[in-house]
Amino acid sequence: MTKIVEISEFGGPSVLKITNKNLEKLKPNEVLVQNKSIGLNFIDTYHRSGLYPISLPSGIGLEAAGEIIEVGSDVKLFKIGDRVSHASMPIGAYAEQQVMPEEKLVKVPDEVSFEEAGAITLKGMTCEYLLHRAYQVKKEHVILFHAAAGGVGQIFCQWARAIGCTLIGTVGSDEKIEIAKENGCNHVINYSTKDFAKEILEITNGKGVDAVYDGVGLKTFEKSLEAIKLRGMFLSFGNASGMVANIDVKKHLAPKAIFFTRPSVFPYTVTRADLELSAGRLFNIMREGKIKIDIAHKYSLDEAQKSHEDLHARKLLGPAILIP
Ligand SMILES: NC(=O)c1ccc[n+]([C@@H]2O[C@H](COP(=O)([O-])OP(=O)(O)OC[C@H]3O[C@@H](n4cnc5c(N)ncnc54)[C@H](OP(=O)(O)O)[C@@H]3O)[C@@H](O)[C@H]2O)c1
Repeated sequence: MTKIVEISEFGGPSVLKITNKNLEKLKPNEVLVQNKSIGLNFIDTYHRSGLYPISLPSGIGLEAAGEIIEVGSDVKLFKIGDRVSHASMPIGAYAEQQVMPEEKLVKVPDEVSFEEAGAITLKGMTCEYLLHRAYQVKKEHVILFHAAAGGVGQIFCQWARAIGCTLIGTVGSDEKIEIAKENGCNHVINYSTKDFAKEILEITNGKGVDAVYDGVGLKTFEKSLEAIKLRGMFLSFGNASGMVANIDVKKHLAPKAIFFTRPSVFPYTVTRADLELSAGRLFNIMREGKIKIDIAHKYSLDEAQKSHEDLHARKLLGPAILIP
């Protein structure tokens, strides 16, 4: 038996229920991982609420780090005792133990702790593809990142600083301004009190930014279009305030000939080569000391509901984990 968090209906944080399950026998290519640290991600709330529909009942969570305690008969990449992490389906990381296909796991280097790996594998690989593959950020670029003090935000800011570009971050409260600056933002705007598009046009002498990274979605979409430069890049990668729907190509994109992408970490890590490239770049930049992960909140698995309540209340001041 293993303790897991399960949902059997869509809804608010209260649908997250602790239960004990018998795990099925491993398939030849599967391993059993004893989770040590589980990443809390906004996407978990989309699965829980039904914004991204999943079949029920279901576990929840897509990011964890732990130790392999059993291997299937045909497992080639790993052995018992290996330290691993993942950022992928199958959903079910909120669990003491979890069965995973071996090809979805990456090895965690010795110098990265379980806690760090559980907090950074999904968020860090997201930053990798956002900065290096969905758009190739260069020193000379000026870019905008919304919710810069958040989980993905803090890692993104440090990675952008390592590249050397000019980074403008937005945050929802004054207490988050310093956090965003410390992590690498050159300019920080509180978008709860200021018109961020106007401020950005002032900072960029009317030109606008080369790229907008928008994980906030509905509330920031229109203003982000104002803040982007002619022929700039719009990367819409999340929906913390609601989903952007009904993009009007003529109204939203044509006037400034904007490039628009709606990327996700999963298509960017779908092949083993992509996954190894992304995790490799992430662990390398950590080894170089250019990204340090400051785990802002630790919850027990029993506190899963509270962790989601805090996420919705915008209380989190950085990456958060659940400890099984
Ligand atoms: N596409 C991908 O590959 C991918 C991968 C990972 C994450 N994401 C997306 O990236 C975004 C950040 O994820 P995360 O897990 O690191 O979360 P997070 O940034 O720690 O939390 C979300 C942040 O969004 C801001 N926000 C604005 N309006 C909000 C609202 N109505 N409700 C709640 N939060 C609101 C809050 O920051 P302020 O208070 O500063 O506004 C909040 O802290 C999410 O949209 C997530 O879905 C996408």
